[in-house]
Amino acid sequence: MKDYGIQIDVDGRPFPVDCVADVVRSGKQIQTFPDDVFIATFPKCGTTWVRHIICQLIIEDYKPRAGKELFVYTPFIEYTGKQLIDRMPRPRIFKSHYMYDDHPKHPKAKYVFVVRNPKDVVVSAYHMSKNLKLNCYDEINFDIFFELFMAGGYAFGCYFDYHKEWLAHLDKCDSLLLKYEDMVKDLKTATVQIGEFLGGRAAEIVENPEKLGEVVEASTFKSMKEDQGRWFEAIFKDQQQFVRKGTPRDWKNYLNKDQSDRVDQKFKEAFKGTMAENWFKEEMKWED
Ligand code: A3P
Repeated sequence: MKDYGIQIDVDGRPFPVDCVADVVRSGKQIQTFPDDVFIATFPKCGTTWVRHIICQLIIEDYKPRAGKELFVYTPFIEYTGKQLIDRMPRPRIFKSHYMYDDHPKHPKAKYVFVVRNPKDVVVSAYHMSKNLKLNCYDEINFDIFFELFMAGGYAFGCYFDYHKEWLAHLDKCDSLLLKYEDMVKDLKTATVQIGEFLGGRAAEIVENPEKLGEVVEASTFKSMKEDQGRWFEAIFKDQQQFVRKGTPRDWKNYLNKDQSDRVDQKFKEAFKGTMAENWFKEEMKWED
């Protein structure tokens, strides 16, 4: 496959071209603590959504303002690296897309793992990539992007390998598994699940109907679509297009039948005999 210059290789794994190899490597070695919370996802599975919910549940003075607040409160390990992270005050909340093998571990830390069907992930990833100020995606159309995604040549690697590896180890960590599609259907239940899993202040908030209602209201698609400078620094051409569609099955507007069948086949092969075997049946079927 042609090299489009969208990624760098760090010890055999692909990372976005704006990552620094030594920072990525150092991130794997951060010092970990029992009260760490790790939000572990493949890109575009709802990471920012869950970060925003968790920050509201854990951090007393969290009021997302334009700028880098999410990066300060829930740093992206691969971009932040060990030197800065090891100086952070506890308790700490992290975002990362590392494969399980590379991911920092602590037997008592909490892992919130968010999954989403691959057809919507590839479409969401395509839109975000085209919206990046980095111009390396300029000559990539959807069909090329789809091939890169299927070949594991997009950003943090192969969707299928990433999930296979994590799912095989989830029971070894104190983890909460969330499905993006379930969160879309019932945000309140997902928020309660997150709060109960995290315990402490987070559990107290979700037990209080008024406070729970406030968190849910601030985390709806409509709320998060507003004032999107809150979620990222100025890395996008159009800052208001990060929280974009927010619905399952937008992929029907992009994938043709052959591409859809290929994802189905790959999904079947990758997850046969795993807990994911029967996931996303409704969201991924071709028929409307
Ligand atoms: P779409 O591009 O399909 O709309 P990540 O944070 O992992 O990069 O995920 C981004 C995806 O989550 C985008 O999907 C974005 O719209 C969606 N998202 C963010 N906040 C959301 C919310 N409150 N409700 C539903 N989807 C949300």
